[in-house]
Amino acid sequence: MWENKPVLLLVLATVTILVGTVITMVLPFAWVNTDRDRIETVTPYNPLELAGRDVYIREGCNNCHSQTVRPLVTEVLRYGDYSKSGEFAYDQPHLWGSRRMGPDLARIGGKYPDAWHYKHMHEPKSMVPKTNMPAYAFLERNKVDPDETRHKMDVLGFPYTEADIKALQGKTEMDAMVAYLQKLGTGIDWRKQADSAVVGELVNPFRGDRTAAEAGESLYRKHCASCHGQEREGDIGPELTGLAGMDDGDLFEILYNGLPDGGMPAFSNLGATKNWQLVNYLLQED
Ligand code: HEC
Ligand code: HEC
Repeated sequence: MWENKPVLLLVLATVTILVGTVITMVLPFAWVNTDRDRIETVTPYNPLELAGRDVYIREGCNNCHSQTVRPLVTEVLRYGDYSKSGEFAYDQPHLWGSRRMGPDLARIGGKYPDAWHYKHMHEPKSMVPKTNMPAYAFLERNKVDPDETRHKMDVLGFPYTEADIKALQGKTEMDAMVAYLQKLGTGIDWRKQADSAVVGELVNPFRGDRTAAEAGESLYRKHCASCHGQEREGDIGPELTGLAGMDDGDLFEILYNGLPDGGMPAFSNLGATKNWQLVNYLLQED
């Protein structure tokens, strides 16, 4: 009936579309960065971190790295807790990105010790032999400009003290980059909550099995040698010799969950079998 009345139809159609627009667009916009999405523990960048972020943008790191973990099981297993909107409150512009030539970096903060990042940025192949990531050693020669950084802090309205600005004197873009990377994704304390529960009892399935230990050795070269040294002599991480007396299960848990406070990454993503192979390699006397 009302289809015959053009004016009435126009009014009804407009009202319908308006209601839809308000619900799907206007309301979510009003919620962004309000108390509803605010996360108390997410803080603005300090001057050094902000300087690093600007180098990240200048160098186009986001052409190879995204900064958002999607809420999918595979992503959470690989990178950590999925990204929350409130975590990006101080990212202007955001660096979510859409290309992943390299891994996502939204949860990189705290995954490695600073020393790992310095070496990796200086020459990525020294830490990951097969990487195609370019070297950024030249960042060690560029100094951060304190005055420019102060100006940026002012424009963004981020809190800082004169001491923070003074502390920038003599810092390089490399220092700034590492500080920035270590901040990423640490706004929420997800590492503490993420300890992946190990399913079942911790019984070493390969006790005394030589082939498992050999498989563990090649896994060691691939995943551990960059931090613990080719011959387990220690480098960024401690030496890994004389572990033969350690409890198999304890060792497994260190590898599986990492030691987040000490800079030892978790290797749960390798799965239980590979971690047990590594355990058997480490338990070998050499
Ligand atoms: C040509 C693509 C490319 C560019 C450009 C690039 N990367 Fe990478 N990046 C990679 C690849 C591939 C890896 C994985 C292997 C490795 O660790 O080197 C990686 C790994 C990393 C990792 C370690 C991630 C992890 O979880 O182990 C960090 C940190 C990193 N890149 C930071 C940067 C920064 C900062 C820049 C810009 C200055 C940058 N990358 C530019 C390709 C790239
Ligand atoms: C990014 C560097 C890094 C990588 C990669 C790494 N580790 Fe570690 N690892 C560390 C650091 C740093 C510590 C010391 C942590 C602490 O004391 O809290 C550590 C501690 C350990 C410990 C405990 C040592 C002890 O005496 O208590 C074991 C065992 C270990 N790592 C094994 C491994 C194995 C096996 C791999 C490879 C699957 C590996 N790590 C990969 C940095 C690394």
